[in-house]
Amino acid sequence: MYCKLLTTLAVTCSLAAHADRLNICTRNLSLVVSADEGRQPEYVYFGSRLSDAESRALPVPRGGRMDAYPAYGLNCPVPAALACRHADGNLSTQLVVTGTSQQGDLTTVRLRDPVYDLRVDLKYRALADVDMIEAWAEITNGEKATVTLTGFASATLPIRRGDVWMSHLYGSWGNEGRVAEEPLRPGEIVVANRDGVRNSATAHAELMFSLDGKARENSGRVIGAALCYSGNYRLRAITDDSDYHYLMAGIDEQNSEYHLRRGETFATPCLALTFSREGLSGASRNFHRWGRRYRLMHGDRERMVLLNSWEGVYMDVNQKGMDQMMADLADLGGELFVMDDGWFGQKYPRKRDDTALGDWVVDREKLPEGIEGLLRDARRHGVKFGIWIEPEMTNTRSELYEKHPDWVVKAPRRDAVTGRGGTQLVLDLGNPQVQDFVFSVVDRLMTAHPDIAYIKWDANMPVMNHGSQYLPMADQSHLNIAYHRGLERVFRRIRAKYPDLVMQACASGGARANWGVLPYFDEFWVSDDTDALQRVYMQWGTSYFFPAMAMASHISAAPNHQTARVIPLKYRIDVAMSGRLGMEIQPRNMTDAERDLCHKAIGEYKQIRPIVQLGDIYRLQSPYDNKGVASLMYVTEARDKAVWYWWKTETFVNQHLPRIPMAGLDPARTYTVRELNRVGRKPLACEGRQYSGAYLMEHGLEMPYTHDTGTAWASRVLLLE
Ligand code: DGJ
Repeated sequence: MYCKLLTTLAVTCSLAAHADRLNICTRNLSLVVSADEGRQPEYVYFGSRLSDAESRALPVPRGGRMDAYPAYGLNCPVPAALACRHADGNLSTQLVVTGTSQQGDLTTVRLRDPVYDLRVDLKYRALADVDMIEAWAEITNGEKATVTLTGFASATLPIRRGDVWMSHLYGSWGNEGRVAEEPLRPGEIVVANRDGVRNSATAHAELMFSLDGKARENSGRVIGAALCYSGNYRLRAITDDSDYHYLMAGIDEQNSEYHLRRGETFATPCLALTFSREGLSGASRNFHRWGRRYRLMHGDRERMVLLNSWEGVYMDVNQKGMDQMMADLADLGGELFVMDDGWFGQKYPRKRDDTALGDWVVDREKLPEGIEGLLRDARRHGVKFGIWIEPEMTNTRSELYEKHPDWVVKAPRRDAVTGRGGTQLVLDLGNPQVQDFVFSVVDRLMTAHPDIAYIKWDANMPVMNHGSQYLPMADQSHLNIAYHRGLERVFRRIRAKYPDLVMQACASGGARANWGVLPYFDEFWVSDDTDALQRVYMQWGTSYFFPAMAMASHISAAPNHQTARVIPLKYRIDVAMSGRLGMEIQPRNMTDAERDLCHKAIGEYKQIRPIVQLGDIYRLQSPYDNKGVASLMYVTEARDKAVWYWWKTETFVNQHLPRIPMAGLDPARTYTVRELNRVGRKPLACEGRQYSGAYLMEHGLEMPYTHDTGTAWASRVLLLE
């Protein structure tokens, strides 16, 4: 249900359904499953592609439990993917194969309990051209009454012990997407999120497993896994007394037991699995290609350079100010202006963050000529116009709440717990009336103003109190799942009607960077922290799983509004230019020299945009290695052009920095080097020179540790073509 329906691939990939052996394969990857009728299905192999003949001959590995979807009850000590209470109260389940089928790129292994009419279809979609296998489960209740699901993983994967390291992302507001790396040791590593609304501020639903010791960027075998879900999740790496680690991933079941009615099917979100022999960067390239081709909205379109008003004016929105920002944006060469929070509310105008969410009507005191006036001004300046909304939320001080207090998430018989501003509340997206309302927020805006080109969709509050005023008391445990089903329904309706609209997923910064929402969104806001140094670290981690085109990355003011750090504009630009470039600044406050530099950078970004946004990433030197410098590059698929980034992460005098060999180039090709965003008086020694791909990858280019203008914050961007 959560898995986007994908078109069948032109690339042919054989799937040999030999009675009991399935070789589910992509161009370079095989997942081999043993599916003997009457027995439990078992994993046989996951790694580089094998022939069907070889896959048939393989033994089921020993030394661990290979059950492809273990059920609770007949081997209680081991972790179960499925756990339930049958209609008669029995807690035990057994799942055996009743058949398999293959249609296009989709393989199904059908399972059933021999005693109870409980069926599970294991689904595997093999996306051959991007080396991704999406796995999920569909659980159907054929019993006479309700079955209660207490465990419902999307998929599991055994990983042979050895020297396996796990990389995952953690963080908090203003510091999202941090990389954590650790060896898998006995016990369980649990990566979970229980926000209820958003799910990536504190942890991410994606993992990498480096099978050959500590993770390396460009070598070593890596398994990548991403749960495609917008709600609460729990991913576990379980290491017990066997020879295997076990990855188990799915919706977090805590306080979310699901009452599966007679005849109903519960589809889990999908777990996307990939494998690379080219290190973490190799697995990232697979995620990025898969995302761009199959999961990210408009994954084949270059993104516009935008100016967002938030850090420029915060809620001090007014017509003159917006017009001036649009004029400045146009002068700088930008393409899209986005008016952030603060533009709405009549009875309770949105002057601070404690009013008006839900009242999506223009505050005519601030904007006397309404959105029509702003669109007219945008047209006059030759830029597109976008607008901020937070449609899943309301404030107690709003007309919406006065009319529909029954629409908010709230524990029964208790006062609602409020969030931001002391008055914010979450709307109950499980309620179809609320779904209609949230859809109507976008629909009304777009119907009245079809020229709106972009929506920034924010979400600034978790589910603080457990309770739905819509769900019956017996189904209160459905709240979290119902919320995200409802949300997805709304997204689908929006996309059916407005397929071209550009949308950003924002949630107090980077709390909605997940592959559950990206089928409906073009991009996400990486973090409310726009400090360029901290962004090097956050964007590094985020790039493990998400392509640059989806990572909104903005040039902001100095001193930075979050860290107060003063970083020269050149460095701020060089960092922002490694993602989807934008600005989060009041251009009026910039000097002429700064405006010139920005103008030049935007022009140069437009030249490299296809390489950054559609190219392959090669991360070279991690900022987390503390070598004083971080570096990565993007290379076109044809390997004829590349953009190389180099940012110092420390500012010590006479610190020795490593030279950085490049990667991903064609060794036989010659590349001419040109520095972008140059501020130095003298050109670099490599400027305009030609080098072979072999030299650049073996040796790399020396970079001066400072700019000759004297700054300690050295950074470089080189175009190779
Ligand atoms: C949180 C977002 O992350 C910011 O970018 C901004 O849109 C504010 N909300 C507005 O309230």
